[in-house]
Amino acid sequence: MLIHSASQLLTLSEDPQRGLSLGQLGIIENGAVLIRDEKIFATGTSDQLRKTYPDEPVLDATGCVVMPGFVDPHTHVIWGGDRAAEFEMRLEGRHYMDILAAGGGILSTVHATRSASIEMLKAQTRPRLLRMFATGTTTAEAKTGYGLQTATELRLLKALLALDEEGPLELSMTFLGAHAIPAEFKDDAQGYTDLVSSTMLPILQQWWQTHAPHHKDLPFVDVFCENGAFNLAQSRQVLEQAKCLGFPLKIHADEFDNLGGASLAVELEAASADHLVKTSPADIAALGGSDTVAVSLPCTPFGLAEQAYTPACEILEAGGILALATDCNPGTAWNESMQFVIALACRYLKLTPAQAIAAATINAAHAIRCADRLGSLTPGKQADLLVLSVPDYRHLGYRFGTNLVRQVIKRGHVYSVDVGYYRTA
Ligand code: NIG
Ligand code: FE
Repeated sequence: MLIHSASQLLTLSEDPQRGLSLGQLGIIENGAVLIRDEKIFATGTSDQLRKTYPDEPVLDATGCVVMPGFVDPHTHVIWGGDRAAEFEMRLEGRHYMDILAAGGGILSTVHATRSASIEMLKAQTRPRLLRMFATGTTTAEAKTGYGLQTATELRLLKALLALDEEGPLELSMTFLGAHAIPAEFKDDAQGYTDLVSSTMLPILQQWWQTHAPHHKDLPFVDVFCENGAFNLAQSRQVLEQAKCLGFPLKIHADEFDNLGGASLAVELEAASADHLVKTSPADIAALGGSDTVAVSLPCTPFGLAEQAYTPACEILEAGGILALATDCNPGTAWNESMQFVIALACRYLKLTPAQAIAAATINAAHAIRCADRLGSLTPGKQADLLVLSVPDYRHLGYRFGTNLVRQVIKRGHVYSVDVGYYRTA
C-alpha cells in the first residue's frame, strides 16, 4: 500500500535524539510511504514513489500529517475499580502519599484488583487500550503492580499477555511487584522487599518461559523508589537481583522526593528512569551522560494539581535522552492520550511540538528498547503509522482535548478513527 500526498511526512529517522538534538522530524513535504509485508518499505516524495510504484493500492493523505504511531513507554493500564472518591479527597487537601500511608491510594486499587477475576480485569482494561489506540498509541508499555502478591501479579501479566494477543494495540510488559508495601507487610517493608527479590523474581523468570513463548525478551522490572514506598537500598536490592536474573530495568524516581533513584538507574544500566520531577543536578548529570532514557510523565503533576514538572530543559542541556509517557493509572493520571501528554509537555516542560513528537515516538521506543523496529518511518521497521486530520505537525501540542487522528495503521493494517456520531434510536 502506498500512502501518498501527505502535507508532511514525519520520518523521525534520527535515532536516538539525544540532548538538544531532540526535535528532528525528518519532514518530507508532499510525502509518501510504501508499506509491504507489514513493514515500511520506502519513504520519499509522492512524485517519486508514485512513479516508481505505479500499481500499488493507494491511500490518499491529502491535507494530512503522516507520522509514526506514538509509543507510550510508561502505563499502569491494568487495574480493578477506580479512585474517584480519592480524587475528591485530594481536592479537599489530602496529599497523595498520606492517603497511601493510611491504607488507601495504590492499596485501595490493590484491594479491588486482588478481588477481580482475570476476565473482569481484561474487561476493565480493554476499553482503556482501545482509547489509547484510537488516540494514536500503537505500542504501550504496561505494568503490573496492583497485585503485590505472587499469584495476583502473575494474573495481571497473564491478562496483559492475552490483551496483547488480541491487539491491535501492542504491549510491552513490566513487572512492578515493588509498587507499594502491601497491608500484610505494613510494618515490614524489608520483609516485602525480600519477598519480591528472592521469591517473586525467580518465579517470574521461570513462569515467563512457559507463559510467554512468543516474547523473546524478559519483561522489565520496575520499582517505586520513594519515601513511603521503597527506599534507595531496597530499590537497589530489587533491581540488582533482577539484573542478575537477566531482566531489563526501569525505575520510578523523584516523583515526590529525591532519593537518588535516577543515578541508581544509570549505574545499573536501566532502560529508563521515570517521573523525574524532584531530580537533583547530580542525577541530571548522570542521566545526561548515559543511555538510560529520562521518561517524563506530565499528566501526573497535572493530575495531582501540583506545580512542579520534569526539568526537561536541564535534562536536554545535560545531553539526556528524553521521552514522554501517559503514566495512565487510576490514582494520579487516568489519561490514555499521548496527544494530551504532548500538549502538557509543550506548556509545562517548555518543549517545542517537534521535540515533544520525537520524545513520544523514537525516544519513547528507546525507553522500551524497541527502537530497532518502532518509533520512526525507517525502511525495515514495523508499519505503525498515524494519518492526522491536520496539515501541519504543530497542531499537535497546539490543540488539546480532541482527537486529531484520522487513521491508525498497525502492522500495515488500516483502522479508521470515527469522529462522527450516529443516532441509534
Ligand atoms: O506512577 N507512583 C507510583 N505509581 C503511579 C501511581 C499509581 C497509583 O496511584 O495507583 C504513578 O504515578
Ligand atoms: Fe508510574
